[in-house]
Amino acid sequence: MHGSFLITIKKMKDIPVVDVNIAEQELKAVEEVVKSRYLIEGKNAREFEKKFGQFTGSKYVSTVTNGTCALHLALTAMDIGPGDEVITTPFTFIASSNSILFNGAIPKFVDVDPETFNLDPNKIEQAITEKTKAIMPVHIFGNPCNMQEIMEIAEKHDLKVIEDCAQAHDARINGVHVGNFGDIGSFSFYGTKNLVGGEGGAIVCNSEEVYDKIQSLKNHGRDPKGGYNHYRIGFNYRITDMSAAIMNVQMDRAEKILARRHRNGNLYRKILGEQKFLRLQKQLPGHQMSDYIFAPVINDPSITPQDLIKYLKINHISSRTIYSVLSYEQPAYQNINNFYMARVVNFPDYSKTHCPNAEHIARNHFELPMVSSMTDSQIDYITETLLKYFTER
Ligand SMILES: Cc1ncc(COP(=O)(O)O)c(C=O)c1O
Repeated sequence: MHGSFLITIKKMKDIPVVDVNIAEQELKAVEEVVKSRYLIEGKNAREFEKKFGQFTGSKYVSTVTNGTCALHLALTAMDIGPGDEVITTPFTFIASSNSILFNGAIPKFVDVDPETFNLDPNKIEQAITEKTKAIMPVHIFGNPCNMQEIMEIAEKHDLKVIEDCAQAHDARINGVHVGNFGDIGSFSFYGTKNLVGGEGGAIVCNSEEVYDKIQSLKNHGRDPKGGYNHYRIGFNYRITDMSAAIMNVQMDRAEKILARRHRNGNLYRKILGEQKFLRLQKQLPGHQMSDYIFAPVINDPSITPQDLIKYLKINHISSRTIYSVLSYEQPAYQNINNFYMARVVNFPDYSKTHCPNAEHIARNHFELPMVSSMTDSQIDYITETLLKYFTER
């Protein structure tokens, strides 16, 4: 019995951590664009914007090249500039705080809530100074931040709010899609996200004035209605219609793709929710995660993620830690004076920044497969194998 189990394990293919849900329709859509010879942002981008607006319930949607420039555009549209401080989380992909630095603004890192892994609203007010201009909450792994409390603080101190929703397609609070709480919501359609475009991004907002500014900024500051007059210094952050075509088809298939993600997340939460060895990311009441990444924290100080990942690998389950180095710990931040903006801006010494909750999560989390094609029995196999590690050591 034992022998045959080992043989089965040996023959098994590794279950990947992520997959990309692409079908024949995406292929056809790209082929059509190429055949049309209209490769630049065009009809597919317009169709996608309409569909994404319906999906998120946002009045205005603007496609952009990727999620990083969506954040950069959003901050620029909010007039965030050199020396301004923007409060954000260090437990995220580096693009979140990098986009703040692009304009010479200063990322002010605030610790996360140990349960939600998101910016802790109770720690925001003490970080506000006369230079603070905005808050950038990041819905990490697709778990919606406590937007009610964040918006109350923002309103009290007259701060702009830019939501980083890169990982949060279909993350909602009481049915309202994230991205609609702050001034601007920024999305990524990077090739491994819930909904993909290869590269790709989108900005959502509910103000016509902000939308017009974004439409102009993303196209070299031109009048969005056309012509070669440039009214502000802008960028080329347009999308190609090949990427937009993929995103457009993904919107048609979104219900199915996202249902698989939610099923995976719900199953994991049901099976692993009560285990004392693990701390799962907590959803606040009325909050729906996007189920982009499922990454619990190990609750046993004698176990490292590295050991657990090795064990899972032997058992053909791919796993990894994703943000084991926090943004302020990255070499680029530890040497921030090498950044050209340091010639005009006094950046803080990030070696003195410490966010203990974020540091704990960074060192102790690991990712489980979130593959849309996973079967129930594969999820059973993953969870049983994982629990064995804690109970049979
Ligand atoms: C939280 C977060 N913010 C921003 C980005 C940047 O998006 P993009 O890769 O599309 O530039 C990403 C990821 O890719 C992300 O995960």
